[in-house]
Amino acid sequence: MRGELAPPGDKSISHRAIILGSLAQGLTTVRGFLSSEDTLSSAKAMMKLGVPIEINKETVKIRGKGSYGLSEPDDIIDAGNSGTTARILTGLLSSQNFFSSITGDQYLRTRPMDRVVKPLTRMGARIWGRDEGRRLPLAFLGSELKAIKYSLPVASAQVKSAILLAGLYAVGETEVVEPNPTRDHTERMLSYLGVRVERNSVSIKMEGPQQLKEGREISIPADISSASFLIVAALINPNSEILIKNVGINPQRTGAIEILKKMEGNIEILNKREACGEEIGDILVRSSTLIATEIKGEIIPKTIDELPVVAVAACFADGETLIKDAEELRVKETDRIKAITTELAKFGADIEELDDGMIINGRENLKGTKCTSWGDHRIAMALTIAGTRADGQTEIEDSECVSVSFPGFFTSLNNLRK
Ligand code: S3P
Repeated sequence: MRGELAPPGDKSISHRAIILGSLAQGLTTVRGFLSSEDTLSSAKAMMKLGVPIEINKETVKIRGKGSYGLSEPDDIIDAGNSGTTARILTGLLSSQNFFSSITGDQYLRTRPMDRVVKPLTRMGARIWGRDEGRRLPLAFLGSELKAIKYSLPVASAQVKSAILLAGLYAVGETEVVEPNPTRDHTERMLSYLGVRVERNSVSIKMEGPQQLKEGREISIPADISSASFLIVAALINPNSEILIKNVGINPQRTGAIEILKKMEGNIEILNKREACGEEIGDILVRSSTLIATEIKGEIIPKTIDELPVVAVAACFADGETLIKDAEELRVKETDRIKAITTELAKFGADIEELDDGMIINGRENLKGTKCTSWGDHRIAMALTIAGTRADGQTEIEDSECVSVSFPGFFTSLNNLRK
């Protein structure tokens, strides 16, 4: 694999640009927006709440309504496959002075919502939902919220963000304590848009109520989660050298790079810079002889979306790789522990499922196979990368779901093939 490319914009930051841009006053212009199924779910949701959003090829223009300018939607909001849309909007809708409801696709409707409903209810939110508020659809009747101090039982940026958005409307000091640090794009963008947020190594505090200031230009870097598939492809395929440009390297997102470097992956970050409160760099990757490693503890939230493709890298690493403390993988778009262990085993990988992770014994070769994505974009892409190095043909059923986060994935990969 050889060449240069910039993957599409960061999914997490794109969601936040749409949602927070809608709450700012006046025009926010977004560059580098990821136009994928997930982020379009957030955009359509905000449009349903009365915010004019214009999505063009190069830019997205959001005519923000200010914190108190949203209006009651005339229909159910559909978050599609997007957990980020559903969870962050649950925080926002709880605080609005109108009735609203939200649902999602067959996968999202099985995922836990109680992790956001519980703290929001403690803040005074009125939320009803299926399975006693544990699952979508949820319905909201806005009410006055009070600030709380909340210790997250699981490290989740979506839950943290939902509480912070509700905290914008709550009276008093909202504090979220994290068991392990998670991606902090919400805090960074809130600050960028004029909200006072206080942060230390374990918690985030915000005095409410507070309003976002004027809209601004937001530049979104390429998504490091999407880049990770290409990084692993270049590492495991011989004679590769690729340069992935303009990638977001927020320290809460670079766990996979740290791990792959520890596995002796030849990865360099060049040309480090900053834009709109986020770090950016270019990533140079060369084929490498990988060695096994242990992945556990604090690095897990920083790598959570990349673990399926890290597992693929481990299949080609010398020795036994252990991944633990990653039970959160079971409540992603699908049960990613079960999905990746089942599907990689079909390639002949020596991989064993654990309750909270997996054990992988690397070997020289995998064999191409027929496998399935389980309807999960990151499983589809991880299996594709395994297929690039496996002997013979690989066929992945249900692979169109890559468009949830990386439209053009197959074309980008083909363009790097030499
Ligand atoms: C995300 C947070 C993570 C991550 C997801 C995106 C976000 O989920 O897995 O893909 O944008 O806040 P959790 O908050 O459930 O850990």
